[in-house]
Amino acid sequence: MSDDTGTNRIDPRIQDSEKIQSLSRRGFMGSVMAGAAGVAGASTLLSPVSEAEAEPLPDIADIPPGGAAPDDEAYWEGVADQFLLRNNVIYMNSGTRGISPISVHKAQVEAVEAVNSDPNMCWSTYFFAGMDEIREKMAAFIGSEVDEIAFTNSTTDGMGLGFMGLRLDPGDEILTTNYDYGWVKNMMAYRAKRDGLVFKMVDISDPSFRTPDSPQKVIDAVVAGITPKTRFLTICHVNYTDGFVMPVREICEIARDRGIITLIDGAQPPGMMKMNMSELGCDMYAGPGHKYMLAAQHTGFLYVRNDIADRVQPLVYTGSSDPDRAITGARKLEQRGSTSYSDRVSIGAALDFHNRITVEATEARLRYLSRRLIQGLRAIDGVKVYASDDPRMSCALISFSVRDLDPSHIVGRLWYRSPNIYIRTVGAAGGFSGVRATLHLMDTAGQVDTLIDRIAGLAEV
Ligand SMILES: Cc1ncc(COP(=O)(O)O)c(C=O)c1O
Repeated sequence: MSDDTGTNRIDPRIQDSEKIQSLSRRGFMGSVMAGAAGVAGASTLLSPVSEAEAEPLPDIADIPPGGAAPDDEAYWEGVADQFLLRNNVIYMNSGTRGISPISVHKAQVEAVEAVNSDPNMCWSTYFFAGMDEIREKMAAFIGSEVDEIAFTNSTTDGMGLGFMGLRLDPGDEILTTNYDYGWVKNMMAYRAKRDGLVFKMVDISDPSFRTPDSPQKVIDAVVAGITPKTRFLTICHVNYTDGFVMPVREICEIARDRGIITLIDGAQPPGMMKMNMSELGCDMYAGPGHKYMLAAQHTGFLYVRNDIADRVQPLVYTGSSDPDRAITGARKLEQRGSTSYSDRVSIGAALDFHNRITVEATEARLRYLSRRLIQGLRAIDGVKVYASDDPRMSCALISFSVRDLDPSHIVGRLWYRSPNIYIRTVGAAGGFSGVRATLHLMDTAGQVDTLIDRIAGLAEV
């Protein structure tokens, strides 16, 4: 529904009969339900179209394994077609919430069906057949040992388990930057007050930190914040505001030399960039399943280096206290009652999806799309792009501003006109404010060009 300026009157996120019909045409509802284990009659509940009418759903098995050159549009459009995006939506906000591709969505729905149709599945949702395999895939994905992983519910949950469970004494200093995530800073301030810790924040809001020629200025600033009393340090791997990839390895190396425990906020990189925990050198790393990894909501992981696992105590522990049977390492943090079987299953399916395409090919593709966006935006008079040109310091999260336009105005103008482009506003300490596009595999080069064209239109005076 649109008025004569082409602006949607009804929020298309809420009402879109066209998309519902399109899913129905493809037989999506029916095919998911038919795949669910032995649920007699379930498919009739959703009135699927008959099999003869249904178009087959895109299947990850149809995508050649191993990825393709970053500019092979035919290949990557096939990958983009693996997502159940509503027609006419260009989704560029995986940094807040990724969307699951069809294979992951189906695996999750089938797992829900399985649990609800076979109560035997329910008695132990903490451990089930296949859980070890998912943990092994997760460890391989982030370059860690299998027993260094605890599955969590989100990045924040993992940050909480790692930080709140760490043994610290009154007077100990805990350090972060003012560009780190608000919820993490709140958590630190809360515990500092509760336990008599000293909470310090390094100010990296000066624009000269944003697009430096080298990350040395950030390293120097963080190191300057360290004192002999510093016991804990957390920084983002990729700043959610401007996409700056922090010099994590260098900072963690310095921290480890000084006996400081490091916990990295990895809300963005898993699924965006190839990762290896031992190369990164952090003590702990919290990531989500539901952003770039493309698993279900309410999923995540916490990596805890085996050597420091004894220093982190679980906040809730429902395992055995018998020393012979007690759960040790990162997994003790995960042993906190029942969890969601279907969410865990979605992690395995998401890792299969990534592994088919390969993280290397995905990262190269995302860098290609990002470069295209950065160059296109930079060519527009009045647009300021905050991403660094140095690939070591940027990846697929691109923030920018358009003249003196209010960021929420830009977001609204992009969303409420067709095609509906979904990006978000970002703001940070020191008055930083702009809009942010986070590119992922559901996005195509053509869609990046559409965003550039629309921004060029907004920038016209
Ligand atoms: C840097 C950073 N940390 C933490 C979070 C919170 O992540 P989650 O929703 O997985 O808890 C976000 C969310 O976008 C983020 O960008």
